[in-house]
Amino acid sequence: MQLGNYCSRFQNLTAVVIGGGSGLGKATCKRLAAEAARVIVADIDVETAQAVAAAIQETGGSSEAAQVDVTQEKAVQQFFKGPGRDVDVLINSAGTMWTKSFEDLTLPDLQEAFGPNINGLLYAMQQASLAMRAQSKPEASKRAIVNISSTAALASMPGLTAYSAAKAAIRQLSRSAAVELAPFNVRVNTVLPHGTDTEGVRGFAAQLPPELQAVFAEVNMPKLIPRLAQPEEIAAGIAFLASSDASFLTAVSLSWMAVSLFS
Ligand SMILES: NC(=O)c1ccc[n+]([C@@H]2O[C@H](COP(=O)([O-])OP(=O)(O)OC[C@H]3O[C@@H](n4cnc5c(N)ncnc54)[C@H](O)[C@@H]3O)[C@@H](O)[C@H]2O)c1
Repeated sequence: MQLGNYCSRFQNLTAVVIGGGSGLGKATCKRLAAEAARVIVADIDVETAQAVAAAIQETGGSSEAAQVDVTQEKAVQQFFKGPGRDVDVLINSAGTMWTKSFEDLTLPDLQEAFGPNINGLLYAMQQASLAMRAQSKPEASKRAIVNISSTAALASMPGLTAYSAAKAAIRQLSRSAAVELAPFNVRVNTVLPHGTDTEGVRGFAAQLPPELQAVFAEVNMPKLIPRLAQPEEIAAGIAFLASSDASFLTAVSLSWMAVSLFS
């Protein structure tokens, strides 16, 4: 899916998209590249990252792939210290979904859910803000971070306690970071997608027990526009928040149709 006519809001800017090899991250890489960004596609799965970078290059865009496990602090530090990492825009899209009943949850389960969603997001934001502040480009006023939370931060379904808790924590982590990074011209915003047709969500749905598959399908289906979102539709919102069109927005959350979770 391609939406509208793209402009060049990211000219002369470098964007790092963590989790860029698949789903929302992949669509965001393509959207930012179509708007003239140099895009670094970072993912734990380097093959998917390479495929996304190659697809961008084929359409005349500027992109490279990198392998990083965002849950490993040292790896994230090394990644941001690498050559060409003069990052202006950071998108945190790495995440995994899995289910376990509330009563069976263990501390290691919580740590697993918080690994990419909180630890990784924190490491990446810390290193990106250091890298952003170290440069003196004329585009310095265009620095932005967009973190991917979920409407699961606002409501939940059986089996999603750990995921929902991690996604709720992302919102507040982002708002707190926005407060501290505002003096350095770094805006930090969050998006809360609802059900979006990605590789990740299809894999998650397939491994659910049958009784939860129906619940998930219903929870995921918005009532107002009764279909799953396409990743490109969410990427458009991410690109808006990352762009200078959102220059007066920081510490905000953009949420997609959580109404279906409450009705
Ligand atoms: N698809 C949805 O319906 C939906 C809804 C709300 C929120 N989200 C959130 O959006 C984000 C992207 O989800 P998606 O549906 O595109 O999933 P996806 O599985 O298609 O993509 C996630 C990507 O993150 C990468 N990744 C996972 N762990 C990593 C790590 N430790 N280090 C680096 N990369 C890692 C994966 O390799 C994959 O390429 C996630 O944070 C997810 O929770 C998705």
